[in-house]
Amino acid sequence: MNVFPQWEPTMNNQSSSEIKPIDSTSSPTPKKRPRRKWWIIAGGVVAALVVLQFFGPTLQNPPVDPLLADEGNLHLPTDARHVLRTACMDCHSHTTDWPWFAHIAPISWFVVHNVDEGREHLNFSRWGSYTPKQQSKLIDEISTVIRYERMPPSLHTLTHPSARLSTNERFVLYFWARNQLARLRGQE
Ligand code: HEC
Repeated sequence: MNVFPQWEPTMNNQSSSEIKPIDSTSSPTPKKRPRRKWWIIAGGVVAALVVLQFFGPTLQNPPVDPLLADEGNLHLPTDARHVLRTACMDCHSHTTDWPWFAHIAPISWFVVHNVDEGREHLNFSRWGSYTPKQQSKLIDEISTVIRYERMPPSLHTLTHPSARLSTNERFVLYFWARNQLARLRGQE
């Protein structure tokens, strides 16, 4: 006995008679509505993006005062300077090489915010404004972030392959930082 009669296949021969022959002439006209809806949505998104461009942040590279930058005080050998320039200065100085996508809102907000924050934590263009104690602390932090590969941020190296550091480049920066630290601590 079947406990679920509703599962029994219904035995009627109506269905076969209901099958209509394929008739191309009487096919209904294709619906146009859904496609038009998508075009309106896409148009709206594009218009919003265009308007957004007028409200994007300004990309600023404040002037570098050589005295304030005090690069000499960093005692950078050429190779270490090169690594800092290519991998760090875009976010930690006033000499940011803004990529093309940094000009496009809403990406620009993210990039500018990142650079602002980077400059706030460590700014090579204002190195001379740090006290010797702050300089020691920053150099110590640089050696740490290099050693543990926390910098440059991985999202940055994804969009800037040249900023990806080889083991050798990490060594160059790391040993520069350790030497600097020893020198600065000797002065304290
Ligand atoms: C894409 C931008 C970007 C690049 C490139 C970058 N940094 Fe940073 N860096 C930041 C930001 C943002 C912060 C602050 C937030 C944080 O600590 O993650 C920071 C923080 C730091 C700090 C402070 C860490 C702390 O704990 O406060 C040091 C030191 C540092 N970076 C060193 C470097 C060095 C060295 C390089 C190059 C090898 C580098 N950064 C490249 C964005 C960047």
